[in-house]
Amino acid sequence: MAEPKENLQMEKIVSLCKRRGFVFQSSEIYGGINGFWDYGPLGAELKRNVKELWWNAMTRQREDVAGLEATIIMSPAIWKASGHVDTFSDPMCDCKKCKKRFRADQLCEDQGLTLIKNAAGKFELPAGTKCMSCDSKELTEPRPFNLMFKTYVGPVESEDNIAYLRPETAQAIFAQFKNVLETSRQKVPFGIGQIGKAFRNEVTPRNFIFRSREFEQMELEFFIKPDEVVEAISGSVVTVPETGHPGEPQANWGWQAWHQYWVEERVRFYEGIGLDRSTLGFHRQTPAELAHYARACVDILFKFPFSKKDEQGNVVGDELEGIAARSDFDLSQHQRFSGKPMGVFDEELRAAWGKLPKEKQDDLWKRYYDNRKNYLTKSAKPDETPEQISQQATEDANGLAKGQYIPHVIEPSAGVDRLILALIANAYSETTETDAKGKTETTYVMKFHPRVAPIKAGIFPLLKNKPELLKKAQEVRDLLRPWMNVYYDEAGSIGKRYARQDEAGTPFCVTIDFDTLGEKPELLDTVTLRYRDDGKQERVKISELRDWLLSRIR
Ligand code: GLY
Repeated sequence: MAEPKENLQMEKIVSLCKRRGFVFQSSEIYGGINGFWDYGPLGAELKRNVKELWWNAMTRQREDVAGLEATIIMSPAIWKASGHVDTFSDPMCDCKKCKKRFRADQLCEDQGLTLIKNAAGKFELPAGTKCMSCDSKELTEPRPFNLMFKTYVGPVESEDNIAYLRPETAQAIFAQFKNVLETSRQKVPFGIGQIGKAFRNEVTPRNFIFRSREFEQMELEFFIKPDEVVEAISGSVVTVPETGHPGEPQANWGWQAWHQYWVEERVRFYEGIGLDRSTLGFHRQTPAELAHYARACVDILFKFPFSKKDEQGNVVGDELEGIAARSDFDLSQHQRFSGKPMGVFDEELRAAWGKLPKEKQDDLWKRYYDNRKNYLTKSAKPDETPEQISQQATEDANGLAKGQYIPHVIEPSAGVDRLILALIANAYSETTETDAKGKTETTYVMKFHPRVAPIKAGIFPLLKNKPELLKKAQEVRDLLRPWMNVYYDEAGSIGKRYARQDEAGTPFCVTIDFDTLGEKPELLDTVTLRYRDDGKQERVKISELRDWLLSRIR
């Protein structure tokens, strides 16, 4: 596979992924296609488990989140409104000699340099930057390269029929905000979650499935009241510490508390699927790093084998998930571009506003007005005048008294594929032993958390040539199969079968032996249950086996 050779641990992981059927290169028989990966039998199960766990935690187990499944191709007007047509690009440069193309920021980073952004906002390569392929210093100046894949809808390939493969699932949620609000009987604060494919024509996809051109996202858009509205209703907006979980949501939470809440909720999710806090890192984005829509963003990082070290020698980590505070940017944009109202009516606000002293009303009105004016000025279309902007901001602020506002949003946005890579890297363990004859053997154990493990239990008859053992083992398999993914295996020694399941990351193995059949009467209808991580074994009754396993894999 086309992977850089410098990282031995990554090489081993990529090799195991292929050997055991977690991940294959897409179109491999034709030489592959850069930036696209397929999930094999074990990878498909792992991915399915991860998505189901996210969906359960983020939608079904919460009163305040509804789900959505939207199309990949949407009206191109969505991407104009979202800003992606104009600004969703990476700086790219070409080597004039060998014609190789690079992402300019990565090219610099790989050489210990930093890409320069000049006063006019244009990117420039620092002196000395060279081509990573042929060492030539003859490189073109960086220029923006839009990351959206284009296609045409219908039989005519014209400008009018251009459509884009979505570069994020988020925009469908904003575009369907009103429909979901009206049909789900939710009230702000509430969220809409979606899992689905997204596509980015990365200049240089890299690090295996970490950065690919076709990938999957798990995104929640959690809509909240603007701080001015919270203050009007609750009297004040609470500020919570920037570390630790702030506890159960409260009426006086503004965007900062909600943001912190979601960072910690997401960390709990990762801990619950086996990524210990020590494997994670955090990065609070600087104003220069923030996307065009964000007012704050905390990245949850995972320490991948390819992650770089800081000056103190500590591994920093690479982004697993970004939790962005997107203000009311997205709904406002869609309101302006579609001409459809995206605001909500809040009776609590209307009632509270009427009871506020005049000075408080004036103060909140002015802050809301300033925020709206600031947004409208930044996003103004060329033909919009300052007077029109002030008039619109006045109308928006006057809406408060009528209980109207445009919700703000907190967005926990996770990449499925990079989480899969994190889980695989975290689970990977190898032991090399040399026997008395000097023969060296390496064994591999994928220590997945039982919740995400592709196979939950291996089911083995002790011996292949005893029909009564096979029959009983198949009965056990059929008992468990409706509830979980199990793997029946009668081939080879028990040791070999354990080793195969260890490599697949199966947390439990169940062996049906002669005691199961009643050789020792007190052990009739019991099985040997073996734990993957320490090899310990215990006897469990078949009648209790399903619940025993379910309590450990859910
Ligand atoms: N929706 C945020 C992202 O795709 O990164």
